[in-house]
Amino acid sequence: MMRALKASKSIFISSMIIIQFQQRPGNIGPDLNRKTKTMALPQDISPVNSELTDALVRSTQMDWIEITPDTGFMKILWFSGETGRWAVLFRWKKGHVARPHKHLSAAQAFILSGKLQVRDGIYEAGDFLHEANGMIHGETTALEDTEYLFICDGPILYFEDDGFTGYLGWEQLQRMQEAANQEKAAAE
Ligand SMILES: [Fe+2]
Repeated sequence: MMRALKASKSIFISSMIIIQFQQRPGNIGPDLNRKTKTMALPQDISPVNSELTDALVRSTQMDWIEITPDTGFMKILWFSGETGRWAVLFRWKKGHVARPHKHLSAAQAFILSGKLQVRDGIYEAGDFLHEANGMIHGETTALEDTEYLFICDGPILYFEDDGFTGYLGWEQLQRMQEAANQEKAAAE
């Protein structure tokens, strides 16, 4: 079984950084937590932008946004107006049918619970799916109440036989989140 690599802790000393690596019998790569050898960095790798920050989203504290009456819900975890990338949690009630669509960018999905009928296959908890940029997909049906994490590199185009029915990208997500926030504020 592949051994997970743990993130190295970077220790800055003047303009040097300690790089940690050691090959151990049975391992496929270096142990990044071991401090055994050092070498000087040939350049400064400290961030130029001091405002760089990670983004932590506690999805358990977020409300679901209803995207299809009674059957389709979403939590918008993150999106980037710079790259167009976005990440959402989908919750589909049993019987929910997602429309045919074309991927205008690659996407990845991880099934957290439930079962999805996706074309010829059934995806269930623990299944990971990479959807290639350019793919056209038909209807997807929730065979059970299903939740899955969906990370997309750009927009998705929805269509039916006689034309396009919708477009989903980071701008639509931003508008949906703002509308949901306003609706919640008005109700309070
Ligand atoms: Fe798809």
